[in-house]
Amino acid sequence: MCGIIGYVGNKPAAPLLLQGLARLEYRGYDSAGLAVADWGGLTVCKRQGRLAVLEEAVKGLHLPQTVGIGHTRWATHGRPSDGNAHPHVSESGLFAVVHNGIIENYASLRRELEADGVVFRSDTDTEVVAHLLEQVYDGDVKTAVFTVLSRLTGAYALGILCADRPGELFAVCKASPLVIGVGAEEQFIASDVTALLPYTRQVIWPAEGDVVRLTASDCILWDATGQPVCRQAEQVMMEAMAADKGEFPHFMLKEIMEQPAALEATLAPHLTDTGVRLEELEGLFADWRQVHRLVIVACGSAYHAGTAAKYQLERLTGLPTEVDLASEFRYREPPLNPYTLVVVVSQSGETADTLAALREAKRRGAPVVAVVNVAGSTIARESDRVLHTQAGPEVAVATTKGYTTQVAMLGLFAVWLAHKRGSLSAVQGTSLLHALQALPAVAARALEQPHLCRLAEKLARQEQVYFIGRNTDYAVALEAALKLKEISYIHAEAYAAGELKHGTISLIEEGTPVVALACHRGLQQKLLSNIREVTARGAQVVTVTTEEQAPLFAEEGEVLILPDTPPLTAAVVEAIPMQLFAYYVAKARGCDIDKPRNLAKSVTVE
Ligand code: G6P
Repeated sequence: MCGIIGYVGNKPAAPLLLQGLARLEYRGYDSAGLAVADWGGLTVCKRQGRLAVLEEAVKGLHLPQTVGIGHTRWATHGRPSDGNAHPHVSESGLFAVVHNGIIENYASLRRELEADGVVFRSDTDTEVVAHLLEQVYDGDVKTAVFTVLSRLTGAYALGILCADRPGELFAVCKASPLVIGVGAEEQFIASDVTALLPYTRQVIWPAEGDVVRLTASDCILWDATGQPVCRQAEQVMMEAMAADKGEFPHFMLKEIMEQPAALEATLAPHLTDTGVRLEELEGLFADWRQVHRLVIVACGSAYHAGTAAKYQLERLTGLPTEVDLASEFRYREPPLNPYTLVVVVSQSGETADTLAALREAKRRGAPVVAVVNVAGSTIARESDRVLHTQAGPEVAVATTKGYTTQVAMLGLFAVWLAHKRGSLSAVQGTSLLHALQALPAVAARALEQPHLCRLAEKLARQEQVYFIGRNTDYAVALEAALKLKEISYIHAEAYAAGELKHGTISLIEEGTPVVALACHRGLQQKLLSNIREVTARGAQVVTVTTEEQAPLFAEEGEVLILPDTPPLTAAVVEAIPMQLFAYYVAKARGCDIDKPRNLAKSVTVE
């Protein structure tokens, strides 16, 4: 996490750095800071809190310098404070450093530097880099950078300024994202390409371990061994991130409302009159019946999208399908071979654990397909094949359209794969195609929930909420609970409805809210029994079900009614009112909905 930005050119750097940080703030918002350089030395300004606090502080300063680095922090080492905010500066003020990642051996380096008399001003892992640079510097920044890198272990993208070289900006990337923006007489670095789009679409992706030196007119790269290297600039086709919320009070609500359009954009290119087309995957296997197992790997909501997809993939293709958390998968030595297809799912395409899982899968010989929203992201670039969701830029930290488009894309994939393997009848194929074609319109209807706001306000003062469901309803329960806890800070738990009685039912008492997700056809009677088990113990139940099944639940307290939808698309349709529910609860509690405490949108540390 953390966002870094850098500029060298002919314009004052500070305003550009602040604009870039505004586009990177989703990566962390514990503090923000910038450093600029000229022959007078380095000027640093950094503040705990949101970017707005830094913007206010910078207002009083005269900053004409045309080179600088900026940072927005998600705290790992050291609590949020002015002192722990980046940039970190070496003792005599010669070097300033911004960092995204973790220097794993910082403690021993710090002890060594302290033994040499260096006085530290922060608790961060990053500060060692600034001091080490100053210690080894003998007039050549490039050599100093390589010498310091040889001492670091961990993951890092670094932006570096040296007061001796005020026309130059140095950068490094290893296992943390970094992109170079090439402009006319100006160059940029950023953690994410979206921060560069207002200024340039020409970008260079440094390779692992590259060191970069930028001047206003030049970009020089050295590979990890110190050899000069040429990396091709690429043209990025993405649109610049919508900078405002329009008529909406929060990005999250805007993004919830954008879901019908995002689903349409994701699905339409792949739907023909007769079936599903995924040209991106053609040729990965000569015969798709060779695949003998699927493994879906992801984090957070993307993991929940994978969990929902597992039910559809197994049902439609007959293939054993596992879903694993990337942070577990990467260290569990999973048995893989060329006939195990690994599907990694990531909105940002930069999540550190998902990226590591992808690399581990490839190392073990498995082909990897990525479902990714951000084109050009590291996961997109490193996977064998990519299925692009078309959610557009997602700004709110809590994902909504990112998640639903992932579920939709995995649904397309399930139908396509089933067809390739010959496991679908013509009748089944047609009905699945109709379900996918209808999804954007059905999602639009799912947004119409007149009673949801009142219900959310009623439950907003609760301390805990349970979500139960079976099959894909259970997958949605996981996502609904996550959504509620991340933005409203209410303790929420999801349980497979049949599992609750194996312990957790002891927490149900008079008035405990339980949301029962009851859309899955064929399991309604089972769920009804589970609802009765909790109402018998005093729970107040809200049932979410479809028009078709609503009569069955009429006696069970509050009922939210959704349009009828088949299992393939239910996890999308059902998630939408749950997103709205979390949104209205958080609003009623006065929470910072778009930037919930302690979270970051792109998690680039493990
Ligand atoms: C963070 C975000 C979640 C997201 C998860 C995985 O935790 O806050 O919303 O689901 O990362 O992100 P990815 O970009 O890989 O989908």
